[in-house]
Amino acid sequence: MTKIMLPFIRSDLAQFTAYKPHPSSDTAGSVTAQFDRLDTNESPYDLPPELKEKLAWTYQQVIETNRYPDGGHETLKDAIAEYVNESAGLSLSNTAVNISVGNGSDELIRSLLIATCLGGEGSILVANPTFSMYGILAQTLGIPVVAVGRNETNFEIDLKAAQAAIEQTQNPPIRVVFVVHPNSPTANSLTAAEVAWLRSLSEHILVVIDEAYFEFSQTTLVGELAQRPNWVILRTFSKAFRLASLRVGYCVAHPEAIAILEKVRLPYNLPSFSIAAGLVALQNRTLLLESIPQTLSERAKLIEILSQQPELQITASAANFIYLRLKPNAFNSQNAALKTFHQKLKTLGTLVRHISGGLRITVGTIEENTRTINRIQAALANLQF
Ligand SMILES: Cc1ncc(COP(=O)(O)O)c(C=O)c1O
Repeated sequence: MTKIMLPFIRSDLAQFTAYKPHPSSDTAGSVTAQFDRLDTNESPYDLPPELKEKLAWTYQQVIETNRYPDGGHETLKDAIAEYVNESAGLSLSNTAVNISVGNGSDELIRSLLIATCLGGEGSILVANPTFSMYGILAQTLGIPVVAVGRNETNFEIDLKAAQAAIEQTQNPPIRVVFVVHPNSPTANSLTAAEVAWLRSLSEHILVVIDEAYFEFSQTTLVGELAQRPNWVILRTFSKAFRLASLRVGYCVAHPEAIAILEKVRLPYNLPSFSIAAGLVALQNRTLLLESIPQTLSERAKLIEILSQQPELQITASAANFIYLRLKPNAFNSQNAALKTFHQKLKTLGTLVRHISGGLRITVGTIEENTRTINRIQAALANLQF
């Protein structure tokens, strides 16, 4: 194709490449159905047929496709508020004012960035490795990203570096700190020291705590929101609630922060079908969350068996995935070995995520996990670098 110039496009966008969703999110399924898709931390289970039937009925009998969706999300927000209260052992009334709903939590991340840092007003702070979308979305909005590191063994945030970054970053100063609880890809929850540091931050800084994997970790900081108007908590229906295809995320925060998010979001950000699916998922949460104990015991099994591989270094996980690296002296050329290891797993039929010098592997069905173990052992058996 001939290269054309688009002189009206913002000059800083030229240096970015578009974020390519993984092949496993191919909607047709034809390319990827042959693989065990363990690279995007989804639930391995589709919605049960009875819930799909309920949704199909709603689609046929209730949803008028010629009408715009309910742009206020009131019913869904009420249901989310009840679940959030229940999950944090709270009994607050009228908590729907503490909720904003997004087209996936990705949309809420972008709205938070628009509401805080746009127009040269702020930078963001992340601790790598972490969820890449914070940095990617910030950059597409021209927002500077300041990154600090983590301890190489337990993946705790380098709090000294983080504090120094907050004190020293000027023009623009850091306005938002993003943390994940538990972190992706490293699967560790925030420690008491990390939470204490977040509490110590000035009210001029927004603290975003992403609890995308809350249903697996069962630890939440929602209970602190009442005292912390500068904190927001993100959650999603894409993981434990099995709705990744329908894009429903939510944010819990002080009503004033929610009011701002409501100002910047698109009026009909959630399709009617997604709103209906979010409601059905919450109404049937006991059924949907019944799979969690199995995921946790399968995770323990994966970690226990794979830890016996002399080449692998695996840390504890509080989420529905595990993160492993090759031991420092296992191979002469670590990077080449990891790349080949990743590729071999794919050739054997398992897709995993190669990220930040390690592999992030979603806990799948019992059968998938057995294949993961066998394929990892087979791939390592003749890995020579
Ligand atoms: C930490 C974290 N936050 C947010 C998301 C995005 O969730 P959603 O599907 O709701 O956009 C993911 C998805 O992998 C994630 O890992």
